[in-house]
Amino acid sequence: KKKIVIAIDGHSSCGKSTLAKSLARELGYTYIDSGAMYRAVTLFALRNGLIKNSKVDEEELIARMKDIRITFEWDTDTEKNTTFLNGENIENEIRQLEVSNNVSPVSTIAGVRSELVIQQRENGKNKGIVMDGRDIGTVVFPDAELKIFMTASPEIRAQRRYLELKEKGAEVDFDKILQNVEQRDTIDSGREVSPLKKADDAIVLDNSHLTREEQLQWALEMAKEII
Ligand code: C5P
Repeated sequence: KKKIVIAIDGHSSCGKSTLAKSLARELGYTYIDSGAMYRAVTLFALRNGLIKNSKVDEEELIARMKDIRITFEWDTDTEKNTTFLNGENIENEIRQLEVSNNVSPVSTIAGVRSELVIQQRENGKNKGIVMDGRDIGTVVFPDAELKIFMTASPEIRAQRRYLELKEKGAEVDFDKILQNVEQRDTIDSGREVSPLKKADDAIVLDNSHLTREEQLQWALEMAKEII
């Protein structure tokens, strides 16, 4: 059986990682959360005082990229993905609003992106991988055999993230989350380096009104046509 690269891009909080993880489980592939890498760099910058009032000390952060080692532990059976920063489990911390609110400015920095893209390509060199993000089908793996571009309305996305955070016991305010979702859309689509956009050969999946299972079956059909 042929192994392929599956690139899933799209707006924030529209269920990319849910679909990517279940696809990886069904196909026995590795899952890589590229957003977690940008979040890990953001956490590192926050901890080291390199972000003040949402302003990033770009030069210093780029110089310190060599001190940042991001690794993952992916368990196919439980679909559990854990992110490590220099060996420390940071999976929960990188999902907090402080990181979410600062990750977009960090991800506009070309010197940060080029470092992370090298690592992402390294992860995918043996194929058999599902990677989600913003520029996977356009920049990281332009030759990916299957590219999916996901989207859903901002309100539905904010609602999903709200429930997810609430389930984890976090104190959350719907309007703040909606604001964060819309703000990230604007920055992610409008930035100069690797903006979020659909690759010409990507298939669009608007999942505003689809269940997780419906999305999975749809994507599996797409994958099986190629494999
Ligand atoms: O996917 P997630 O929402 O966790 O990504 C967090 C942020 O990282 C995004 O809002 C975006 O700014 C950035 N990102 C990116 N390129 C990627 C993945 C994420 O710029 N491939």
